Amino acid sequence: MSEINRYHSYKGLPPLAGVGSFERAAGPGLSIEDCVARHKRFHYSCHRLWALMLARLTAEPIYELKMGLSHHAYLASEHVTLLRDRVAEMRHPPLGLDKVPHPELETLFDEILMSESALELLTGIYRVAFPALRDGLKRHLVDSNPLVDAPSVRIFRIMLPEIEQMIEWGESAVSALQAGVSDQDLNRIEGWADDLQLWLTGAGGLDGTSPAENEKRPEPTFSNQPWKYDKSPRRDERFPDPYNMGVHAEEFLYDDRFEDRDKVLMMYYKRLREIDVPEMMASILYEMAVGTGDEEIGGHPWLFYRDLTRQLWDEARHAMMGEVGFAKLGVDWGKDVMINFTWSKGLNEQLTPTERHAVLWFIEQGLMTKTGKRFEWEVGKKSGDPYAELIQDYDWADEVLHARIGRDWYVKNFDSVKAAAEYGSACWDKVMSDWEAWKRDGLTEHRNWWPDLYSGVCRLRGEEPNPEVLSFAETYAASRADLQRISASG
Ligand SMILES: [Fe+2]
Ligand SMILES: [Fe+2]
Ligand SMILES: [Fe+2]
Repeated sequence: MSEINRYHSYKGLPPLAGVGSFERAAGPGLSIEDCVARHKRFHYSCHRLWALMLARLTAEPIYELKMGLSHHAYLASEHVTLLRDRVAEMRHPPLGLDKVPHPELETLFDEILMSESALELLTGIYRVAFPALRDGLKRHLVDSNPLVDAPSVRIFRIMLPEIEQMIEWGESAVSALQAGVSDQDLNRIEGWADDLQLWLTGAGGLDGTSPAENEKRPEPTFSNQPWKYDKSPRRDERFPDPYNMGVHAEEFLYDDRFEDRDKVLMMYYKRLREIDVPEMMASILYEMAVGTGDEEIGGHPWLFYRDLTRQLWDEARHAMMGEVGFAKLGVDWGKDVMINFTWSKGLNEQLTPTERHAVLWFIEQGLMTKTGKRFEWEVGKKSGDPYAELIQDYDWADEVLHARIGRDWYVKNFDSVKAAAEYGSACWDKVMSDWEAWKRDGLTEHRNWWPDLYSGVCRLRGEEPNPEVLSFAETYAASRADLQRISASG
C-alpha cells in the first residue's frame, strides 16, 4: 500500500480544495511540453471550426442552420480564447498558435470547410470533428494530474458541456436533413465521413496521442481544388421576396398616430431582419481572419475576432427574438412578413471588410440616440406585451455592448469620433441600393405586405382593423436619398 493511501485530511475535511483525491493528485501527469502540445491541437481545431462555421453561414440558405452556426462559431471563439490564455500560462507565448500541428488535421478541416451540401458540412462538424475534440479533452482529464494542471482541467470542464450540447444539436440537425436524401447520397456521405476518420487517424488523433497511421490515406474529396469563398447571402423558402423594401418599419415606429401594440409587429419584423447582420459580420471576420487571396487581411489581435463573434451571435439572437415574438402571436412570418437581405447582400458584394465594419459601427452608434434602442424598449413597455418589453430591454443592452466593441476596435483607428463617423457614412453611401432597378428587373414588386400582416393579427385579436393603420403604405423608396434610413439593421 502506497504511503498516500495512509494519509488523511484534517478532521475528515474534503482534501485538496476539491480538485481530486490524494491518489490522483499523487499520480502521474503530463509534462508541460506534452500538455502544451495537446492544447495547441485543441486550439487549432477550435480555431478551424470557428472559421469554417463563419465561412459557411452567409451562403447557407436555411435559417435554423445559419442561427446554429452563429451560436457555435461564438462558442468556438470562447474556447479559442480559453485555450490561448492557458497556453500562455505554460511558459509558451501564444505565438505560433496558427501553426498547423499536423498536415492531415489540416486536410480534415479543409474537407469539412469545402464540403458541398449542408448535410456534409454538418456531418463533418458534428459527427466527426466535435466528437474527436470531446474525446481528446476527456482523455486529457484522465491523463493529466488534476492538481498540477488544475487550470486546464477547469477550462475543459467549461468547454465539455458546451461541446456536448453542440453535438446534440448537430445530431438532431443531421437526422432532420437526412430525411428525403436518397440512399445513394447517404452512402456517399457516410463514405466521406469514414475518410474524415482516416485523416484523423493519420494525424495520430485530434490530440496527437495515438501513433499516426497513414497507410490508408484516402484521396481528398473536396479539398484538392482551391477554396472559393461565397459571401453572397442566401435564404430558404420562408424568404420569398428578399429584395422587398415595400414596408418602411421605422416610419411606422416613429409615427404618433399608431398604437404601441401595432408598433410591436414592426419591431418583431426589425428583429427578425437582423438575420442580415450575422451574414454580413461573418464575411468581415472570415475575410479578415483568413483572407481570400484578393482581399485585405485584417492583422487584428485575437480579441478583435472574439468580440466581433460575440456581437455576431447577439445579432442572431435578436433575429430569433423576432421569430419567437411572431410565433407567440400566431403570425406565420414566412408567409406574411417579407424579410429582405438587401443590406447584407449590398455590403458583402460591394464593400471591403474594413468598409463593412465602418458601416456597422456607423449604424450602431446611431442606435444610441433617444429615438434608438431606448425608444424601442419604451414602445415594448407601453405595448402591454411583456415579451416585447423583455426582448427590447436585452436588445438595447446588447447594442450598447456593440457600440463599445466598435469604439474599442474601429474608432480607435481614427483621430476623432467624428472622422470615424464620416468614414462610416461615406462607406455606406457607396453601397448601391437601387429600389427602382430591382423592381424593373423583376427581382421584387416591393409589395406592401403590411395590410395582410395587420389584418391577420386583427383577426387573431378578434377585432376589426383600424382603417388608418391598415392604409399605412410608406416604402423605403421615398427615403432613398437618406440612406441612413434604409434598412438600418439594428
Ligand atoms: Fe448590434
Ligand atoms: Fe443588431
Ligand atoms: Fe438588435
